[in-house]
Amino acid sequence: MFFSKKKKAAEIDLLHLPKHIGVIMDGNGRWAKKRGLPRSAGHSAGAESLKKIVTEANNLGVKYITVYAFSTENWKRPKEEVDFLMNLLLDYLRNAEKTLSGENVVIRAIGSRKELSKEIQEQIVKTEEFTKNNTGIVMNIALNYGGREEITNAARELSKKAVSGEIKPDDINDEMLSEYLYTKNQPDIDLLIRTSGEQRLSNFMLWQVSYAEMWFTDKLWPDFKPADLHKAIADFQNRGRRFGGI
Ligand code: IPE
Ligand code: IPE
Ligand code: MG
Repeated sequence: MFFSKKKKAAEIDLLHLPKHIGVIMDGNGRWAKKRGLPRSAGHSAGAESLKKIVTEANNLGVKYITVYAFSTENWKRPKEEVDFLMNLLLDYLRNAEKTLSGENVVIRAIGSRKELSKEIQEQIVKTEEFTKNNTGIVMNIALNYGGREEITNAARELSKKAVSGEIKPDDINDEMLSEYLYTKNQPDIDLLIRTSGEQRLSNFMLWQVSYAEMWFTDKLWPDFKPADLHKAIADFQNRGRRFGGI
């Protein structure tokens, strides 16, 4: 569903869009429970929501979107739910080749891959390869992603370089550390959206959200519509961002 530029022009200034939107897609389980459905039905509905939101963000002209699909902590869920989510993600990556890349989306998976099934790992490589020359929005799918794991990794890699003498410990600065994050060469998140009424980060993009504007809604992720994305962006555009200045 695409809102015509005419309709949204009043609300959104298309020249001052957030460069990078982060989305914590939460509330699938509660959405299903409210309807007397299994949690898996909520996850399926959530995947549909994701397609619409990425398409809309791309149509608006947003350059980067990072969506939290599975955290390093989500393995704690019952095996049945984890398996369902993994299959859904596999499906999403497979179909994304056909559907989302048709929308010119560059798809990347961020997070630790080694714990994922071989099938998913291979599909990620295929999907990334298939979409890498697209020119539209870059979508990072955070899959087995944890902000602490990401920063710890970067510290480990920098330590190796310091020990081998390639760099001096005193030369390490935040730009250098950023080079070892999954979001290397991408702008920081400037708008962070979380659905379902929870107001926490849950280990999402700890480094990249340092100056993000946070936007929360009680809507559950499967109910989140392109109009809600417009609202979040319009609110973002009305915030006074000072970055520590005056
Ligand atoms: C978000 O919805 C999706 C994932 C974490 C994979 P939840 O599954 O967390 O839904 P709630 O929070 O239990 O309602
Ligand atoms: C965060 O949601 C992870 C994703 C949206 C993938 P959770 O539902 O796992 O977070 P908590 O447990 O409520 O903090
Ligand atoms: Mg949740």
